[in-house]
Amino acid sequence: MSELIKSDYSALSFNLFDKIGKQWMLITAGDESGLNTMTASWGGMGVLWNKNVVYIFIRPQRHTLSFIDNSEYFSLSFLGEEYKKALLLCGTKSGKDCDKVKESGLTPAFDENAPYFKEAETVLICKKLYRQQLSADSVIDERIFKEYNNDYHFVFVGEITEVLKR
Ligand SMILES: Cc1cc2nc3c(=O)[nH]c(=O)nc-3n(C[C@H](O)[C@H](O)[C@H](O)COP(=O)(O)O)c2cc1C
Repeated sequence: MSELIKSDYSALSFNLFDKIGKQWMLITAGDESGLNTMTASWGGMGVLWNKNVVYIFIRPQRHTLSFIDNSEYFSLSFLGEEYKKALLLCGTKSGKDCDKVKESGLTPAFDENAPYFKEAETVLICKKLYRQQLSADSVIDERIFKEYNNDYHFVFVGEITEVLKR
């Protein structure tokens, strides 16, 4: 496996809908004393407050939420198709019940600010800028209600502070 090297957002070229919606990503937070990761396929990237940012959406019951809440940074790791099984595991089991990192066979690495996975092809290290819970009274289109059972996501806006790429 070639090394992940520090890169720049200008080196990113992908179709965002495929990257997030089909390839999926691992959202990871914590440190060497403890971390948690979960698979996500909802989210976005863009420009806000004159910064390059990501948007992630975390339901309140996710174990990963407390790790993000307790950290200044989180990471997004994008892994190739050969890791789909590991991504499925991280998206169906909770860190509350098992050691997902061990079970998935993935290798955590530690940037100075956030943990990520060595198997990734692209990693974004993100500094938290904003957190807010979505709410029923802000829903405009009724079709959205079917997505919820009173567990409205927390949206986090994170500034992309580092890009690692193979
Ligand atoms: C493909 C896929 C995409 C997912 N996307 C999200 C997401 O964007 N937000 C979310 O809160 N949960 C999402 N999940 C569910 C979490 O990954 C799952 O509940 C996981 O077990 C949470 O782990 P945790 O409790 O250790 O944090 C997704 C699951 C899969 C399989």
